[in-house]
Amino acid sequence: MEDRIQTLRADALDRIAAARGEEELRAVQRELLGKQGALAELLTALPGLPPEERPALGRGANELKRDLLAAVEERARELEGEALAAARSGAGFDPTLPAAPRVRGSLHPLTRVRREVEDIFAAMGYLILDGPEVELDQYNFQALNIPPDHPSREMQDTFYCDREGRLVMRTQTSPVQIRAMERLRPPLRVIAPGRVFRNEEQDATHDHTFHQVEGLVVGEGVAVGHLTGTLKSFLRRLFQKDLGVRLRPGYFPFVEPGFELDVRCPFCQSGCRVCKRTTWVEFCGCGMVHPRVLEAGRIDPERWSGFAFGFGLDRLTMIRHGIDDLRHFMAGDLRFLEQFRS
Ligand code: DAH
Repeated sequence: MEDRIQTLRADALDRIAAARGEEELRAVQRELLGKQGALAELLTALPGLPPEERPALGRGANELKRDLLAAVEERARELEGEALAAARSGAGFDPTLPAAPRVRGSLHPLTRVRREVEDIFAAMGYLILDGPEVELDQYNFQALNIPPDHPSREMQDTFYCDREGRLVMRTQTSPVQIRAMERLRPPLRVIAPGRVFRNEEQDATHDHTFHQVEGLVVGEGVAVGHLTGTLKSFLRRLFQKDLGVRLRPGYFPFVEPGFELDVRCPFCQSGCRVCKRTTWVEFCGCGMVHPRVLEAGRIDPERWSGFAFGFGLDRLTMIRHGIDDLRHFMAGDLRFLEQFRS
């Protein structure tokens, strides 16, 4: 019996030493010490032995078990050290393999054009403000000289947020004009880019959610010439060329007089797809701030005057990047967005 233990010990220690990896080592451990392993097998002989030999065998088996477990853990540490040394030596590492490609995101075209617009106006001394997208009816309409029964409320199909009609999804960025006047004292120059919402049928040029940039300047002696001059310099910087502008009369309750400002087509001299063969592109609504709007902003219209403008960022971005359908902006389609990598 003693012999069998000695043989098993020698054989087991050889196998442990020969194991060439953590997994192989654990398999050897199971074969030696597991429930149906070699040691368990040996012990099945115990009941058949004369009683006086049993304690010695039991002790011998326990010692063997302890020694083999120790040998396994020792070998495991060795193997771990070897693996670490191999990794450190760089064996099996090929520095000439190409790196896994890194997937980078890109800015949405609307974000890029908005930032360009902001940079240009910031350089002209304008503050950049934002306002809430869920807006008080008071700011979105009333303070802008659009009373409850005014037909222009129907022109803009409004999403209402409560039964009383006190809260609306803002239909325009113009309410930020009122918020700006409440917060800042004149003279002031601000733009307010942001999302606006209208309950409209969707097509290639209309969406229920779109983007505007509002502008407001209030000062002493501010006149129409300042309005056209400002928008001309802005357009010159944006399109990097001098483009003529023209004013047509336009009606907006919060300005008097009110205008539509057109800009010469940046892409042609004789008519193209962008300008629909007219050589003019509609750019924005604008005008001289109505005295009632100044009053709503607690500014004295006897002393101060101002101009305001509002343009669509989506359309501007479409023109800048030759995009033919507004719905691309909100679709979240990577094939569209990935074209705007810088
Ligand atoms: N808020 C107008 C709209 O959504 C655009 C606009 C027109 C803004 C004239 C102005 C302005 O500031 O003076 O159609």
